[in-house]
Formats: sequence, structure tokens, C-alpha cells
Amino acid sequence: MDILINIAVVLLSIFILLLGITFLMGVLSAGPFIPTTGRAIEKFASLITLNKKSRVFDLGCGDGRLLRYIERKYGVIGEGYEIAPLVYLWAKIYSKLVGSKVKIYCRDLFKADLSKADVIFLYLVPFVLKKLGKKMNAECRKGTIIISEGFTLPNLKLKKHIPLNKKKGLPSFYIYEI
Ligand SMILES: C[S@@+](CC[C@H](N)C(=O)[O-])C[C@H]1O[C@@H](n2cnc3c(N)ncnc32)[C@H](O)[C@@H]1O
Repeated sequence: MDILINIAVVLLSIFILLLGITFLMGVLSAGPFIPTTGRAIEKFASLITLNKKSRVFDLGCGDGRLLRYIERKYGVIGEGYEIAPLVYLWAKIYSKLVGSKVKIYCRDLFKADLSKADVIFLYLVPFVLKKLGKKMNAECRKGTIIISEGFTLPNLKLKKHIPLNKKKGLPSFYIYEI
């Protein structure tokens, strides 16, 4: 009985620690986990042309929902980077439960090798986007498409802007091509 209580206490402590780290990440550096809506994901998918070999990255992928959507729709196995441990854990568990093969890493998105990407999706706070533009210019191949939900990428030349559509409940999208 004592052993069971000890195990429960350890598991609870780990959970509280992960919760604390996740909260701190959100407050201090990364910005909070706010999932993209289903409609916005459909809109994102309608903005690009994909085939099974396309390399799609979601930088700050949250629970990985966008990656699983394009996997279901196009058979694309995308890559996601998520820095908040609990959000990452949920993304991994949920993906496993639904039989998804998407690749999700618990890693700072600034460590991703962007030279492999064909399409990059971003739904990030402006101060993260500000630093990211330089990395994109330095690493992305010519032709890489970048779609940012809600906010602009200061260091890249805008190709197309899809304005907010309140009636349809759709956010704005900013599209860039390297
Ligand atoms: C607004 S949410 C968007 C989640 C997901 N892309 C979606 O559209 O549903 C932003 C996510 O980016 C993550 N994030 C922010 N900065 C990050 C960084 N430097 N490295 C990895 N993930 C980061 C946050 O933890 C958060 O879960």
C-alpha cells in the first residue's frame, strides 16, 4: 500500500512539475498554447498544394492537430516542434491513440532544420516571429512556402494576405515564399 502511495506521489509531482514548466514557458518565452480552429486548418490546407512527399513543418505545433489533418487528407507525414512539455506529451499520446505517424519533437523550434521544409505553418506570438524571419531567410530553400496565422513575419517579403473573415470565423493568414 505504501509503495502505491509513493508511486502516486511521484507521478503527481512529475505532473505538477511539467504543468509548472509548461506554464512558465507560456509566460516567459514561448507564448501560450492556443489551438488553431478546425475551420482555420481547412483554410490553411486550401491555400497550398501538397503531395505525399511534401515536407510540412508546424513550428510550435501545440497538440499536433494541423499535422494530423494534413496526414488524413493528403497522407503527408509532417513534422512538429513543441517546447511546452505537457502540450508535447498530449500531442504524442493523442497522435498514438489515433494511429497517426506525424513526427512531433519536444524541442525549441529555433533548432529545426528548415532547409528540408516545403511548407511551414506558424501560429506564434509576434516576438517569436520577429526572431524567426532571419532564420527563415538563412535556412529555407528557394520556393519554401510559409503561412503565418494572425501575425506577420517582419523580416520576409509578403506574397499574399488573406484578411480576417469574422462572418466565417476565420483568422487572417500571411503567406510568404522564399
Ligand atoms: C498559438 S499555439 C499554436 C499551436 C498549433 N500550431 C496550432 O495551430 O494549433 C503556439 C504554440 O507554439 C509553442 N511554441 C512557442 N514558442 C516555441 C518555441 N520556441 N519552440 C517550440 N514551440 C514553441 C507554444 O508552446 C504553443 O503551444
